[in-house]
This record gives sequence, C-alpha cells and structure tokens, in this order.
Amino acid sequence: MTKWAELQRLRDMNKDRRILDLFDESRAADFSIRADGMLFDYSKTSIDAATRTALIRLTEVSGVAEKRAAMFAGAKINDTEGRAVLHVALRAGDDAVIEVDGTDVLPEVRRIRSTCAAFARDVRSGAFQGQGGRISDVVNIGIGGSDLGPAMAYLALAPFADGPRCHFVSNVDGAHIHDVLQGLDPTTTLVIVASKTFTTIETMTNADSAKRWMGAKVRNPAAQFAAVSTARDKTAAYGIDPERVFGFEDWVGGRYSVWGPIGLSLMIAVGPEAFDQFLAGGRAMDDHFVTAPFAQNMPVMLALVGIWHNQICGYATRAVLPYDQRLSRLPAYLQQLEMESNGKRVAIDGSDLATNSGPVVWGEPGTNGQHAFYQLIHQGTRVVPCEFLVARRGHESDLAHQHLLLVSNCLLLRGRSLEEARAIMAKKGLTGAELERQARHRVFPGNRPSTVLAYAQLTPFVLGQIIALYEHRVFVEGVILGINSYDQWGVELGKELALALQPVLAGKAGTTGKDGSTAALVAFLR
Ligand code: F6P
Repeated sequence: MTKWAELQRLRDMNKDRRILDLFDESRAADFSIRADGMLFDYSKTSIDAATRTALIRLTEVSGVAEKRAAMFAGAKINDTEGRAVLHVALRAGDDAVIEVDGTDVLPEVRRIRSTCAAFARDVRSGAFQGQGGRISDVVNIGIGGSDLGPAMAYLALAPFADGPRCHFVSNVDGAHIHDVLQGLDPTTTLVIVASKTFTTIETMTNADSAKRWMGAKVRNPAAQFAAVSTARDKTAAYGIDPERVFGFEDWVGGRYSVWGPIGLSLMIAVGPEAFDQFLAGGRAMDDHFVTAPFAQNMPVMLALVGIWHNQICGYATRAVLPYDQRLSRLPAYLQQLEMESNGKRVAIDGSDLATNSGPVVWGEPGTNGQHAFYQLIHQGTRVVPCEFLVARRGHESDLAHQHLLLVSNCLLLRGRSLEEARAIMAKKGLTGAELERQARHRVFPGNRPSTVLAYAQLTPFVLGQIIALYEHRVFVEGVILGINSYDQWGVELGKELALALQPVLAGKAGTTGKDGSTAALVAFLR
C-alpha cells in the first residue's frame, strides 16, 4: 500500500459530496488557523476531519518534522548541489545560532545586513550622492529571484516607501531597460546589479546597457553602481567598489533571497527599520512553523490543502487571488517560488516521481480577475482551487467604502442551482424549452474549493509572514513529494541552450545539428 492510498480512498468515497453540506456550527472554526494576527480559513474545501487526519499522517510518514529540523539546523538538504538551505538564517533572531560545517553563519549575516542598512541610510539621507546630487531613483537589475522578490515587495509596501523611487529591470528584451531608463536622470540614479552568480546573461547585458546610458552623462558611472552578489571577484572586475558590494552565501537560493542583500532596493525604499519589520514577520512565521502542532500549523495545513487538491483530487492548477492590489506581483513571485522549487520529475533518490509534481500557479488581483477569468473558475469544466488573500483594512482611510466593496467580492462561496436559475427565468416571463435553455446557461455548479488568508493590513510585518508562509508551504509539499525543492536544473539547461544559440542567431555559426524547426526559425528571425 502506498502512502497515498488512504487519501485516495477518502477521495473516492466522498467525491460527490457538497462542500456546503459539510458546514455545521463549528466547521469554520475547526478548519481554520489563527496565528500572530493572521487567519487561514480552509473550511471551503472538501477536507473533513478524517481527511485531515490522513493528511497529517502523510507528513509523518514523509518525515516533515525531521526534515524541518534538518533545514533549520543547517544540514545540506539541497543535496544535488551539496548546499544547506538557510534563507531562515537571513531573518533569524539576535540570539540564534545556526552552524554550517561547524561555523555559526549568523555573525556574518548580521554584519552584511548592517552594511546594507548603512548604505541604505546613506542613500536615503543624501550622504551618498550621484554626480548630479541626491539619488532620486534606484534601478535594480536582476532576474528571477534577484528581481521578483524586491519588485513584488516594493509594490506591496508602497505606503511605506519614503526613499528614492525604485525600478526593476529583468527582461533581456531591450524594451524593458529602455522604457525604465527613459525619463530617469543618469546623474541622480543608482544602479544595483543584483545577481548571485554575476554571470546571468540577461542581467549582465542590461547592466552593460545601463552603464553605457549612464556613461553618456556621468564621468565615472561605476561610482553610481552597487552590486549584490556572491561573486566578489566578478564584481571587482566589473569595476564596482567593494564597499558597495553586498555578498551572500550559496545556501540562500535565488527565489528565497529577498530577505538578504537582494532586498537592498526595498531597504532603500522603505528604510532599514521597516525592512527589519519585514524580517520580523518572516521570523514570526518561522517560529509558528517550528512550534505549532501540525493541525494548527499554517504552512503545514496550507501545504496539505495543496497536496489534497493537486495530488489527490487531480486539480492541476491553483489560482492565487489577492484582494489586495498591492500584492499584484505576488502570483508572479509565487510562480517562481513554487514552480521552480517543486516542478521536478525526479525524487531525491533519483527515481521517477510517484505522483504529479507541484501544480501550475497563476493569478491576478481581485476584482480584476473576476472580470476576466473567473468565468472559467465558476462555470468551466475543470476545477481550479482558489487561494484568496484579503486585508481587514486598506491604507486609504478616505476610501474605506471601496475596501468594503473589495472584501464583499472576495467572500463568495455559493453557486446557483438549476432550480434557482429556472425561477429567475420564470420571473423574466420565459416558459417551456426557452426557459430551460436560458436557465442552463445560468447555473453555477458551485462546490469549487477555496481558501482565504486574512490579515489586518498589508504592513512590512504581514508581508514577511505571508512570504515565509508560502516558503514553508513549498518546503512541506516538497518533502511530501520527495523532491529537492532547492535546485533548478531545468532553468540551468535553458541558460545553457540560450547561450549556445547566440552565435547561431548572430550568424557566426551555422544551424548544422539543430532540429528542423529551430533551423527554420533561426533562418526567419535572422
Ligand atoms: O531562474 C534561475 C535562477 O538561477 C534563479 O534561481 C535566480 O534567482 C536567477 O536565475 C538569477 O540568477 P542570478 O542571481 O545568479 O543572476
């Protein structure tokens, strides 16, 4: 019997049961978790008490608690790259000790954080200036984890941003950097080249373009460049003063790196104190993850809801729908976090994965999504589990009535039965076959699972909680699936293939050996 058998049995037994029928007086409380001011409600799913017990059993047979302890202790759980996985160290408390190869890594984490904070303060106060004076704009050039984290968080924390404006360039498409730099003053712009390896072709190409743009107006453009990288030799060769190079260790994966120097642009925008609050939120979620019993553990239950929907019910995608405009980049951020981490076909031991890997993650902020793709969610033939995020209050106290409207759109569960649709059509005066035909178009089968993550207000602390919550969710799902969530060999292959095609596209090499489609496309594009 596989570890999935009991869950599959429960699913088969209850497949046709209605979620609404599960509700009694206590379900909303029993199937939700509160922690540090947040509420995670998973009562609008088909999970009942027996299913939850079986799901928690799955964590036990998969060794989630043991692996969690190993991760927090600095064990090299990323074993295809021989690395520890220690993004939690970037937000650890002052009295924590985490050792890698027998050395406590936290003193260095704290030292680098304080150099980042000192630089951020200098930029914000004007102590660090560009050739034309005080820094007005910061351009972060990076891609993937060196872009999505700070870009997502900068938008999310807009009400707290009181420093220079920040901009983010990631795509190697020249349109991106062109449009971002247009309108900026090179003499008051700071460029941060954020690249763990300092070799990523998109980032280095954009950095070169930014240097040329700045060089047209600024005598020494490198003086207005900073770098975030683990490759100090390469940043030095690029001409960036080591004083403005902020390093981090190889045990921080790109998509988990916003908590450290990769978050420098965010720190400059909101200030080191607000950034500390962001870290504190992440730390609060870490503490909760480590201490709460699994049935009351938000990341664990969020992961188990995900496993239930994807691996057991077979729902291939999940929609992340923030009813919080400032989380508009959260779906994109989670796409990388979840799909780069758990989109793997091989288990840690090298065997084929026994089940589906992680789901396709997608989404848009509500209510925009409602007027676009919710039609499919409501009436399409495939079930898409939805994950809503919503704040009790917005930041715009003068627009509280709009927030009310926003929230009222988020909290919907019911569908519409054929009988109800018939009654509506009858009221409109329709009869017979036409009444039946029109009514059928207006039926919403309902029974579509969703969860809600609710919080008081989107502050730096809460954003930290949310991001750490999803990180740990990925961890738990990865352990249950038997995946190494911390490598990304598929992306590495993409980098290699793109590199090999460059001379071909530039006309410096032929297409011999390329498949027919690639050869024809090269011929067309060349
Ligand atoms: O997308 C793959 C990846 O390796 C990410 O993990 C990383 O965040 C991104 O590329 C960029 O890499 P780097 O920070 O080295 O430029």
